[in-house]
Parts: sequence; structure tokens; C-alpha cells
Amino acid sequence: MSSLTNSHILTEFEAKTKKSKARHLRGLDLFPSGVVHDSRYMKPYPIYIEHARGCRKWDADGNESVDFYGGHGSLLLGHAHPSLVKAINRQVELGTHPAACHETELMWGELVKLLIPSAERLRFTASGTETNLMAIRLARAFTGRNKLVRFRNHFHGWQDHVAFGSKFQKNTADVPGILSGIIENVIVADPSAPGSIRQLLVSNSDDIAAVILEPTGAGSGQVPLGRDVVKMLRETTEKLGIVLIFDEVVTGFRVSPGGVQAAWGVLPDLTALAKILGGGLPGGALVGRRDILDLMDFNAAEIQGFSKIPHQGTFNANPLSAAAGVAMLNQVAETNITTKANEQGEKLKALWNSVFAAEGVPWSAYGLGSSVYIFTNPGNLKIDPENFDANTQPMAVMESGGNHPAATLFRLAMLVNGVDLSSKPGAIVSAVHEEDDLAEAAEALRASLTMLKAEALL
Ligand SMILES: Cc1ncc(COP(=O)(O)O)c(C=O)c1O
Repeated sequence: MSSLTNSHILTEFEAKTKKSKARHLRGLDLFPSGVVHDSRYMKPYPIYIEHARGCRKWDADGNESVDFYGGHGSLLLGHAHPSLVKAINRQVELGTHPAACHETELMWGELVKLLIPSAERLRFTASGTETNLMAIRLARAFTGRNKLVRFRNHFHGWQDHVAFGSKFQKNTADVPGILSGIIENVIVADPSAPGSIRQLLVSNSDDIAAVILEPTGAGSGQVPLGRDVVKMLRETTEKLGIVLIFDEVVTGFRVSPGGVQAAWGVLPDLTALAKILGGGLPGGALVGRRDILDLMDFNAAEIQGFSKIPHQGTFNANPLSAAAGVAMLNQVAETNITTKANEQGEKLKALWNSVFAAEGVPWSAYGLGSSVYIFTNPGNLKIDPENFDANTQPMAVMESGGNHPAATLFRLAMLVNGVDLSSKPGAIVSAVHEEDDLAEAAEALRASLTMLKAEALL
């Protein structure tokens, strides 16, 4: 980690963000580390946003930036899109919580069923974390088995069953606050060794309830997994009666309108959805096989004599999220917004890689469609930025791909130059990022690399 002191980049950042710093000091009095989401933690302090529109954000000091954080992946049409504002305003007038069933939840559910190929039945939740929790419990109840297999560094939210084994935990033994009974029943598998995963599943199939994964790989593709491994997992779990859970919280409606499963033609038993699902408002949905979701069905439980899996949730399919979700998914279904976001992502990668090549910096932008990551090459491998193939790299290389010692200053430099990256670092691209936004992002990259070079960090 390069020192944050004595850096011109830091000085420039601090000079531009005085009001954000003042707010951060208030935040420190309230929240651990001053933030309410770990990914927003940033040195020396995070910026505070006042308002946002399209793909632009304005911070407390009036600085404008091109936004590539995309509401942690929940935005496909940028901020305050007129169609979503209209739908949400209309619903506010009609009431935000009838504590009753309502037509908008039906429309929302019908759109999910239309778009996601494996969705025979669904239940709405309030978040991706909750949805994965429900998936795991259903899988255990359905199979009568205990163990969950998850993959190193794949992220599935912060609840107990999946809070360890991700890159946010130092190691798999470092799980303060989690019951040993849960830890003993979660196997953290190495995603880089498909042969041993298969063997693991075959040898322990009697006690494995489910395999959960991010199908495009850890960090939604920052560490790519590949279709062949996913296909192998589908075939193996199907043979062994293990429930396969796709976490499509990020990839759903983004990789394709029907998620990774539609794009790759591999159907899981259960899928967790969130983010774009709610059009930028809170919401999640567990979708999948009817016989598994029927474990939550009052009638099925009564007729078949089993104990129903309970599922409550004050804000499940709340009318505001449902209204935004319907407006969002209607456009996913009827327009080309998913394709457009993916095309813009491809263009951004090409632009950024031409900057890396021109500047002689051995970094590379890669990723699937609208999910863009920057390989910062901490091992200083000899690579050609414009021909870097993340899929053929050893997983260990990609797992540390964002960890260049200058990564923090790089992010600050990009902010100084008017671009807000995601923390990986990377860019979550939307359908409202236009050519001039991408050109600005390329210019910001060039200027930021120049700043890093001036400090002998590259
Ligand atoms: C792949 C994945 N799964 C699950 C989650 C958790 O979703 P939520 O933040 O809605 O609880 C996230 C959130 O970033 C995610 O990226």
C-alpha cells in the first residue's frame, strides 16, 4: 500500500472535498468507520453525494462525476430515470404499504417469470442477503441434508451461512460471531479446481443440500469462473440430487434480460435476484422450482402433511419497490436496455485499454458486458492491455487483480478527474452512459495514470 501522506493526489482530493470530510467526521460519531455499507469505506474518507441524475452524481462540494458505481449494481437506467420517477411518484400517491396483496406485486412477479427461464414460482424478499438465506434454508429442508458448498470469494451477502469464505474475511477460520454448528456445515470450496469440486460433491453427496455460486465468478465476474465449470456443476448436482443455487443478484437482468442462466443455457434449481429487480429500490426475489418453493405453501403443507417453511417480511413486494420493479422490468423485457448497457461496457473497456496501452501501463479493463473490472497487475506480469484474457489467467492472479499498492490513490485520482469507480476497482455501466461519458472516462483515466506516474507509483 503506497503511503497516503505526501501525495499530491491526496492533497487535490482533500482540497476538492472539504464538505465531504466535514460530513465524514459527523458520520464517524454515528457509524463504525463512518459508513453504513462496508464497500463505501474509503481512505481518507468517502465522498457524500447530494444528488444524481442519469449517469452523473454531484457531491456535497458541488463536484460532478461520471458514476460507475451504479447503485452497487442496482441501476440499469442510471439515476432518477423519468420512467421510474413517474412510477414511484404515482405509487406514493396511492399509498406505500397497504399490508395487503396488491396488483403491482402480480405484475412484478409475472415479469420475473417471463424473463427468468427457471422461475416456476417465486417469493419476494427485501434484499439479496435475505433471498440467499431463504434459498439455503429451502434447500436443506427439501433435501433433508445439512451441508452447503460455497466457493471461495464468491459473495452472497452478510448473513451467517455465507459471511465467511468471502474476500471480506481474512480466512475461513476468521468468523467471529457465527455459530460453530453453521461453520461446520458450510464447505468453502476452491473454485479453481473443478475436478476436486466434482469429487467433493460425489464423495459427500449424502450430506450436501446445496451448492451456491455467483455463476460468472467471484465479485460477479471479477474472478471469472466460466460456463464449463457451471455446466459441470449443473450436471453433477442434478445427478446427486443437490440443489443448485445461482446467485444472480448482480447478473440477473444485466448479463442478459434472463440473467446468466438464459445467456448460457444452464438452469439452476433456485435463483436469488435483487438489485435491478427493484429498479433501484430495495427488493429481492427467490425464484425456481415449484416443488422446492412449495415448501412455503400453506395448502401443500396441509395436504402433504409437512411443516411449512415460514416466510414473513414487512417490506416484501412493498408497493414502491414493486412499482419501480415493474417499470424497470417492463423496459428490460420490451426494449434493448440490457444490450445497450453491455455494448457500452464493451466500448468502455476498449477505450480504457487503448489508454493503458498508449500510456505503457500494464493494467487492463476486462469483464462481461456492463460489469467492468480493472486488472491492476500487482504482480507486474507482462501483459498487453488490449489482448488480456482474464479467463485464461490462474484464479490466484485474478483474485489479487485489484490489489495494486496504488489502488487507493488511483481511485482518488479518478475522483479528482471526475469519475466515481466501483471499489473493486471497476465500472458498473448502464444504458444511459453515452459516448461522451465514456470519452470523459477515458480522459480521466489518462489524467489519473499521469498523476500516478508523477508520484512514481507506476
Ligand atoms: C452477488 C451478490 N449476492 C448477494 C448480495 C447481497 O445483496 P443485498 O445487498 O441486496 O443484501 C450482493 C450485494 O452486493 C451481491 O453482489
